[in-house]
Amino acid sequence: MVESPTVDLVVLGGGSGGYACALRAAELGNSVVLIEKGKVGGTCLHMGCIPTKALLHAAEIADLSRDSEQFGVKTTLDGIDMVGVNSYKDGVVGRLYKGLQGLIKGRGITVVNGSGRLVSPTAVEVDGIRYEGRHIVLATGSVPKSLPDLELDGQRVISSDHALALDRVPKSAVILGGGVIGVEFASVWRSFGADVTIVEALPHLLPLEEESSSKLLERAFRRRGISYELGARFSGAEEIERGGVRVRLESGKQIDAELLLVAVGRGPVSTGLGYDEAGVTMERGFVKTDEYCQTNVATISAVGDLIPTPQLAHVGFGEGILVAEHLAGLRVAPINYDGVPRVTYSDPEVASVGITEAQAKERLGVDKVTSLVYDLGGNGKSQILKTAGAVKLVAEKDGPVLGVHMVGARVGELLAEAQLIYNWEALPSEVAQLIHAHPTQSEAVGEAHLALAGKPLHMHS
Ligand code: NAI
Repeated sequence: MVESPTVDLVVLGGGSGGYACALRAAELGNSVVLIEKGKVGGTCLHMGCIPTKALLHAAEIADLSRDSEQFGVKTTLDGIDMVGVNSYKDGVVGRLYKGLQGLIKGRGITVVNGSGRLVSPTAVEVDGIRYEGRHIVLATGSVPKSLPDLELDGQRVISSDHALALDRVPKSAVILGGGVIGVEFASVWRSFGADVTIVEALPHLLPLEEESSSKLLERAFRRRGISYELGARFSGAEEIERGGVRVRLESGKQIDAELLLVAVGRGPVSTGLGYDEAGVTMERGFVKTDEYCQTNVATISAVGDLIPTPQLAHVGFGEGILVAEHLAGLRVAPINYDGVPRVTYSDPEVASVGITEAQAKERLGVDKVTSLVYDLGGNGKSQILKTAGAVKLVAEKDGPVLGVHMVGARVGELLAEAQLIYNWEALPSEVAQLIHAHPTQSEAVGEAHLALAGKPLHMHS
């Protein structure tokens, strides 16, 4: 066994959580080894956030080209060249990947390419070499899940990983799961001309969002010709003639399509990596941690999709930074996960921060909660963009804003303000004092607070 010199920190996994931790630790003067079996950047950069958002942008351009006449501009959409779309998408990923590699190198971090295994509370082994650290950070992320008896063959039954590599637009698709991935791919493929049906077991698309946001999304999807089956239980799928797939629901309904995208969640990557053997407490495959992302083993922390916190790249960044700072002895505050912004980048976008009205009523009591919906119909910029949607505020009666829930084109960009409002526990009357630029969509956030503070401007009573 070859042993490498002991460093301050060994990070296993170079995705958002792992590399953020490595970068911050190095910045704080620690020596770091970062172990990655694929490419640094992980799911977010290579198989998730970035490539899907590039597809969604191409989808927006397709819609604008197809529908430009409503703005008085004559164009025709001649078709989608997936080779061109993929080359644009891969170009974006490639540039960011190069930049990230430079950043990591610039901070003096040692990157080890290979598959690592935890072999003691302070060591990870890669290809026969043992990397000792004063502390270990586990950041091995997640992979797409499937259902029992539903095998992902990569051809007819695919995961989001396969969907990102498709060299064609499917003529038709069934998407199993109406969560974030299902909704985003439905949006892309519909814009590219496919017939899409989403099958969701719970009563609404994006079931974790505020119910009114889910309903607005469902209405918009219906108008866009995206079909969905809600409260629908999947019972099976089989290949049919001409190479398609038949999806059966428990109701007896059958839907035929060219392919089935399985988007029923992502599961942690933790088996066979030595975590159990090192004594790390696990739960359903996730590594359990305290509010500082510390496991039950004093020398081991864990961050990102591997722990049971929201599976979002920016949560991974936050957790990675938290761990690096905590280890360096800085004063850190645990993350308030309710205060983390969430965006589904479909058309329309769905964005939120804070808690839903139902959660607020459960936590505070029904009488202590108030809410308000501001329709984007009253917002000039939204009318210019021809987008429909709303800003919904949930607040404690005579108290701070508890949740901001938005639907509409580009509303994800409005979350920057919404998250300050929520996390700084602003009162509606305080936000109402702030003048918002006209005409912007951010005015809708301002107007909603004006209305909740009892002085609505562009709002019908
Ligand atoms: P998800 O947990 O968001 O959604 C899965 C959906 O599948 C749920 O609505 C669930 O009710 C449904 N489902 C489960 N079993 C089913 C069945 N047998 N039949 C029908 N429906 C069933 O998981 P998803 O969409 O796969 O995404 C994985 C993770 O990646 C999520 O945590 C998500 O937040 C994250 N992600 C975030 C993005 C963003 O922030 N924009 C983009 C893509 C993914």
